[in-house]
Amino acid sequence: MLDEKIALYAQEIEQFAPQSEEDVEAFRLKFLVAKGVIRNLFDVFKSVSPEQKRSLGQSLNELKQAAELKYKTAQGQFVADAATQERSDEDLTLPGEGFVVGSRHPLSLVRKEIVEIFKKLGFVVAEGPEIEDDWHNFTALNFPPEHPARDMQDTFFIKKQDGNDIALRTHTSSVQVRMMENGQPPFRAIMPGRVYRNEAISARAHCFFHQVEGLYVDENVSFADLKQTLYYFVQELFGEGTLVRFRPSYFPFTEPSAEMDISCTICKGKGCAMCKKTGWVEILGCGMVDPNVLVNCGIDAGKYSGFAFGMGIERITNLKYEIRDLRLFSENDVRFLSQFETELI
Ligand code: PHE
Repeated sequence: MLDEKIALYAQEIEQFAPQSEEDVEAFRLKFLVAKGVIRNLFDVFKSVSPEQKRSLGQSLNELKQAAELKYKTAQGQFVADAATQERSDEDLTLPGEGFVVGSRHPLSLVRKEIVEIFKKLGFVVAEGPEIEDDWHNFTALNFPPEHPARDMQDTFFIKKQDGNDIALRTHTSSVQVRMMENGQPPFRAIMPGRVYRNEAISARAHCFFHQVEGLYVDENVSFADLKQTLYYFVQELFGEGTLVRFRPSYFPFTEPSAEMDISCTICKGKGCAMCKKTGWVEILGCGMVDPNVLVNCGIDAGKYSGFAFGMGIERITNLKYEIRDLRLFSENDVRFLSQFETELI
């Protein structure tokens, strides 16, 4: 009796060919649940004679495995079908969803442009620490302690330290000192980097900004070399025909010193708000390296001379993009930042 039933169900299971998920569920309810066929057969099996147990045990187990396998395969078939169904509803010709690519910060774009121009003239890039000691930021650069010139560049002090206080650097001239201390001329390098000053924050001043300074030291370097280098730089950055003029100025570390103006790129020299109606805008400070600085850095000032210059990247960026408020650079407002070029490299 039991053997006939097993054979019958085995056939039914083998022939089972579901057409839908419902068929599969009906199969499960018939064979595999606690009150289903298989369990029932096992209950009957318990009460058969030991001889029958031996011969039927195996086929009953096979029946159980066959039912489970059938159920599993059938189930998978409809899950896969559902997925295919869903996918085929999609219109694969629709454009993909775009993703937002960030843009370069305007200061990074302009710094890169400045660096590229000086690289063409053979300048290398040098870097140094933003937290600097008094010697590298001031004393070596001919600002003696207590000298009033230090007031031009007040900064944030971190630690008092036996006449060599630790502070945030006010210019990247400190990198020039480090470079000269660690080698011998010729030097031809630019120093891009962030600098700090103790200034009230406004549209025109901030407590930090970015600079590119430059240094060229070799035998027979003259003011003519300085002028020609900076003239070339301005033509490359602002376009041919931009005028330059040098006004005498003062920096402790250069002698003579000058400030360089360019003809206003916005009104082309006619006079506008950017150039305060003068037709000129100041873009950098420069001069011949003071021999005291060379000596402080262990360089023979009788044999070598050099020039140095320094500019604020913010100032140049303001001119290039007509930005009138310095604070925009550090407010992280995407409406401002996304207006600049996106570079994917
Ligand atoms: N270090 C000066 C500053 O930050 C700029 C400068 C550099 C001027 C080199 C002359 C020569 O103001």
